[in-house]
Amino acid sequence: MKLWGGRFTKPTNQLVDEYTSSISFDQQMWRQDIVGSLAHVAMLGKCGILPMEEVRQIIAGLKKVKDKIERGQAEFLVAHEDVHMNIEKMLIEEIGPVGGKLHTGRSRNDQVATDMHLYLREKLMEIIQLAMYLQEALLEKAGQHLDTVMPGYTHLQRAQPVLFGYHLMAYVSMLQRDIERMTETWKRVNVLPLGAGALAGTTFPIDRAFVAELLQFDGIYQNSMDAVSDRDFIVEFLADSAILMAHLSRLCEELVIWSSQEFSFIELDDEFCTGSSIMPQKKNPDVAELVRGKTGRVYGNLFGLLTVLKGLPLAYNKDMQEDKEGMFDTVATLHGALALLTPMISTMQVKADRMRQAVTQDFSNATDLADYLVRKNMPFRQAHEVVGKAVLYCIENNKYLLDMSLAEFQSFSGVIGEDVYEALAVETVVNARNVLGATARGQVEEQIKVFRKHLEQTHDWVEKNSQKVMIESLIDVGSPA
Ligand code: ARG
Repeated sequence: MKLWGGRFTKPTNQLVDEYTSSISFDQQMWRQDIVGSLAHVAMLGKCGILPMEEVRQIIAGLKKVKDKIERGQAEFLVAHEDVHMNIEKMLIEEIGPVGGKLHTGRSRNDQVATDMHLYLREKLMEIIQLAMYLQEALLEKAGQHLDTVMPGYTHLQRAQPVLFGYHLMAYVSMLQRDIERMTETWKRVNVLPLGAGALAGTTFPIDRAFVAELLQFDGIYQNSMDAVSDRDFIVEFLADSAILMAHLSRLCEELVIWSSQEFSFIELDDEFCTGSSIMPQKKNPDVAELVRGKTGRVYGNLFGLLTVLKGLPLAYNKDMQEDKEGMFDTVATLHGALALLTPMISTMQVKADRMRQAVTQDFSNATDLADYLVRKNMPFRQAHEVVGKAVLYCIENNKYLLDMSLAEFQSFSGVIGEDVYEALAVETVVNARNVLGATARGQVEEQIKVFRKHLEQTHDWVEKNSQKVMIESLIDVGSPA
């Protein structure tokens, strides 16, 4: 018998049951569902909507259901459609018809929205913490490589030398914005929809503020139609995640390139690589490739939900049940990627010699020769032309700028003196870029300091809010003292 069977004269077609059911995936929110119900029924008691004796029975029943699920003794059935009705059925089985009073003043529409908010605020916090660990690993590595010079690239062509620590700090900086986006989104996730009813509120004198307090929500949806209709809090999470994955994917692409034999700038630890079934010599950066590859599904999940929501009339529509799998998938994908990248970065071996060798066998100090000429009062455009000619000469004669004799240098411009060798040396070139945000060692040290400070601030934020999201600690919300 369906919980909503009264109006029907026939059982549902089996195919309809299977098609409309969400229990196969929404059962992972069973804790959230029970906690939400505990708070709801406690409020019904406090407001005198249900007698305390019945409230106590329902609370005890919900806890029994919780224990049963934890022991693996509960069976979720497709016939009961979703996690909400499965749990309500279990409750009624446990304590009899009084269990049917739990749904007083509530709809599955505000119930499901509440479960999703409870679920996402916790997962979002976990992801923020995982992103912090990755930031920490990158900061640590950056600090170890303040003397490691490497070619910086544009168009994947050697451009100007940079410190390896500087290159890594670029990712720390990206992750900082990712984390800020997510803490900002978290504010909009930690808002209570419960009490919205199906769409128009309820006739019972409920106390939404009390529920919000029990469940540690920082705010309450002010319009109930909005509360049950929108999923923009999930869209935001998926968008934040898509951007984060774009960053991780670029990092992974670099790990793949750097670990190739052609570059040989790094070696990933054996623990984080895999071999080939046919070529015995292979050591493949599969994890990095897979993070890059999984970026596709995270983008897809964002577009999936945006498309589901587009054009839906208010308020709830069953289409919205499609909000869940993409969200769960994105949570799992980010978890996997961040949890693996952190130790991969920490354990990767950096081949500083190879990087330095690359820098000395290229023309990445060409800009510095132009800047040198500018300091000798030559207009930059003319200096660019002179250096272009010198580079061409070197290519034709199979040498690099620093291989030229002073006479050769002077054949391009008479203003060039002995000091050119010092000016074009790789350390000079790197440290000459000594303005805010640049690659000079002192600047990178400054960047590390700034981002360590940011990391501390995120720590404080997590500390302040982590108590709110611990679903287990909320399990006693409804219990009378
Ligand atoms: N399983 C449903 C979902 O995930 C719960 C809400 C159902 N509400 C309804 N009016 N049918 O969207």
